[in-house]
Amino acid sequence: MVSAITPAQVDLSVRIGSLTLANPIMPASGTFGPELAQVFDLGLLGALVTKSVTPEARAGNPLPRLAETEGGVLNSIGIPGKGLDHFIATQVPDWRRFGAPVVASLSAPTVAAFADAARRLAETPGIAAIEANISCPNLEEDGRAFAMHPEPAAAATAAMRRAVGATPLWVKLSPNTGDIAAVARAVEAEGADAVVAVNTILGLAIDIETGRPKLGAGMGGFSGPAFKPIALRMVWQCAQAVRVPVIGVGGIASAADAVEFMMAGATAVQLGTASFVSPTAMPQAIGELRAWCARKGVARAAALTGAALPATRPPVAAG
Ligand SMILES: Cc1cc2nc3c(=O)[nH]c(=O)nc-3n(C[C@H](O)[C@H](O)[C@H](O)COP(=O)(O)O)c2cc1C
Repeated sequence: MVSAITPAQVDLSVRIGSLTLANPIMPASGTFGPELAQVFDLGLLGALVTKSVTPEARAGNPLPRLAETEGGVLNSIGIPGKGLDHFIATQVPDWRRFGAPVVASLSAPTVAAFADAARRLAETPGIAAIEANISCPNLEEDGRAFAMHPEPAAAATAAMRRAVGATPLWVKLSPNTGDIAAVARAVEAEGADAVVAVNTILGLAIDIETGRPKLGAGMGGFSGPAFKPIALRMVWQCAQAVRVPVIGVGGIASAADAVEFMMAGATAVQLGTASFVSPTAMPQAIGELRAWCARKGVARAAALTGAALPATRPPVAAG
């Protein structure tokens, strides 16, 4: 028998290391901007994850950069942006207006550049955590990224850990690896406070009329609903490989998806492509998560984390 509680009684807060978030729902890097404040109160979100910033300004990849496919989207954006100085001077204050913790996503081409930029972000007031995007498949030749193998992932993490002091450091992993658990263990060993699983998976679409790839860059990163089971499986593997919190991302569009990822071991989740389909997907997911927990008698959403993992906690009561 499930004891009834009201939605208002549900505690949605979660802890990611030293950081407490009001709820486990946040945007996935690069899929969301402050302009969404016209649609809903961004202060409602558990955190605000920025688009990845790079040390220097970048033009991004050749057009076109987006191609819709069955059940998802391919992108080869290539992280265009005005660089770190502009980010710190202009974008951080813009994000801070909303009151939710600001998580700065960082991407860089070398270990030294990761460390230098991470140090500057850690010194910037109002940054609650750094999310190191060591997994972007667009930045390096052949789609290679640090996160493809444990050694380069560990090297980048170690250098950033030394550079940022006590600032929370999340490391975002790539699905484009043969052994995600090994990469997760490697970054945890070098001091990551959380792992974010996962970035987009490399894919391809071809326009059969022109005989050319649909994306200007050729290959791109695949995201959206069809990607969900793969991302969920990786969260499940990471949660069993590391003790630090896992933040799940990949195909999540609703509270039900969020619960699934939390049961697989995620402490919090990020929504990306879903916000393109419905700009209110995140506030809707927060409300539905609260209602779902109340209906199930789950007083603390944090108790969902790992509920489906083998030999951990008993499952949430059915019915
Ligand atoms: C258009 C677009 C841009 C993205 N830009 C970034 C980025 O700047 N940094 C990053 O770490 N991930 C980036 N991603 C990956 C997302 O943060 C997320 O990991 C991925 O899309 C899977 O989640 P989803 O299926 O909910 O979209 C981007 C994804 C898309 C679709």
